[in-house]
Amino acid sequence: MTATPFWIAGRPEHGDTEVVVRHPFDDQVAGTTTWAMPTQVEAAVSAAAGAADETAELPAHRRATALRHVADALRDSAETVAELITAESGKPIRWARVEVTRAIGTFTFAAEEARRFDGVTQRLDTDPGAAGRMALTRRFPLGPVLGITPFNFPLNLVAHKLAPAIAVGAPVVIKPAPATPLSALHLGRLLADTDLPAGAVSIVPVPNEAAGDLAADDRFAVVSFTGSDTVGWALADRLPRRKVVLELGGNAAALICDDWDDPADLDYAAERIATFGNYQAGQSCISVQRVFVPRDRCDDFTELLVSKVRALPSGDPRDDACVVGPLISRDAAGRVADWIDDAVAAGATLHCGGERDGNTVAPAVLSGVPAGRPLAEREVFGPVLVVEPVDDTDAGLAAVDDSRYGLQAGVFTRRIDVAARAHRRLRVGGVIIGDVPSFRADQMPYGGTKASGIGREGVAATMADYTEPRVMVLPDML
Ligand code: SIN
Repeated sequence: MTATPFWIAGRPEHGDTEVVVRHPFDDQVAGTTTWAMPTQVEAAVSAAAGAADETAELPAHRRATALRHVADALRDSAETVAELITAESGKPIRWARVEVTRAIGTFTFAAEEARRFDGVTQRLDTDPGAAGRMALTRRFPLGPVLGITPFNFPLNLVAHKLAPAIAVGAPVVIKPAPATPLSALHLGRLLADTDLPAGAVSIVPVPNEAAGDLAADDRFAVVSFTGSDTVGWALADRLPRRKVVLELGGNAAALICDDWDDPADLDYAAERIATFGNYQAGQSCISVQRVFVPRDRCDDFTELLVSKVRALPSGDPRDDACVVGPLISRDAAGRVADWIDDAVAAGATLHCGGERDGNTVAPAVLSGVPAGRPLAEREVFGPVLVVEPVDDTDAGLAAVDDSRYGLQAGVFTRRIDVAARAHRRLRVGGVIIGDVPSFRADQMPYGGTKASGIGREGVAATMADYTEPRVMVLPDML
């Protein structure tokens, strides 16, 4: 098998140490690449620094055309790319197809935003001291961006770092997740076919241990990291004066409100929670982990939820029917199984699942997990749901908010006043009404509060993060 090249300033290159990427379900070889050598990493960083002035001057139509090219090329090869995602990450093919569609959207939105990205004028004669003047505020790129990306969306979360950088005219270097570099390298190949300046884009596989030193290179004006909260906050601590964007974990909650009591509505909620607590084996920062249900309905709802969870198709992720699939590694599966055992030993009730087989953990539903146990407090990043009763909607909102994380929350209600209260009270980046917290549209702001991060993705929001406003004061011409 020929090793997939990585990309240094738009050129394909190979290092001298092979990286074998294996299918998490059966260990088959999904592909190979090589680690970038230190000299190659240096070439990528210095090319990015050297290209910053040129990319910042690039006309919007050229940036938009490059972005549109990637969207079109992904659309033309959508099934092949989905199969690549499944092969390297073990993500069930049905979710891999969704990811490709989303990535096409991410590049398309970025092409549109690149054309829209414009200055704003402001009258200054609102103050006598500024009469006769006006201000024009435009945003300019901060400089080269380093994007560090995770394994769980190996295409679209790379797209969320790359596409906004191209849209604003910032050079970008991507360090893909070591377990899943192939989708990112595919994007590198598509971008190499555009007429972006050399240095605008590099994709460099390096081991995780090298990421801190890479990020510390002060030729990067922005470091954008998606991954675990432990690593993310350590990175931010190491870079106190740098623009750092962190998209970290969560233990997202779904709340069934008092008014959500129609049997068909409860069935819908149970179906959605079962699916989106376990899709791609729970390896999404917004997969449902905590479920709060009014006390008088909690036993019946738990029973319904367990029946839905048991019915979820698991197994080979290449199978069109598969919903759950394997975890990324044996270690990850072992940790999830250990956390379930820990909760049960501490007195929790295990209603179903939890058995581990290789990289796979059977989807689990628990209740009565004591406070302080990892399953109650931390991000499980696995196929596990923890159900707890609450006295009423307000107690439920307080329970949802009682978390060190704050990424997204799902609130099942039909009442507009409850929706407004949830929106006001929950310290999260997004509140999804009438559905699970796992909904994400790639054009909307996405990110967290508290331990879940700082900054927002979503194309326009990231473009704001990668740029800074600069005001020009002019004689009033209007
Ligand atoms: C994440 O895991 O943070 C990304 C979720 C998504 O893009 O759907």
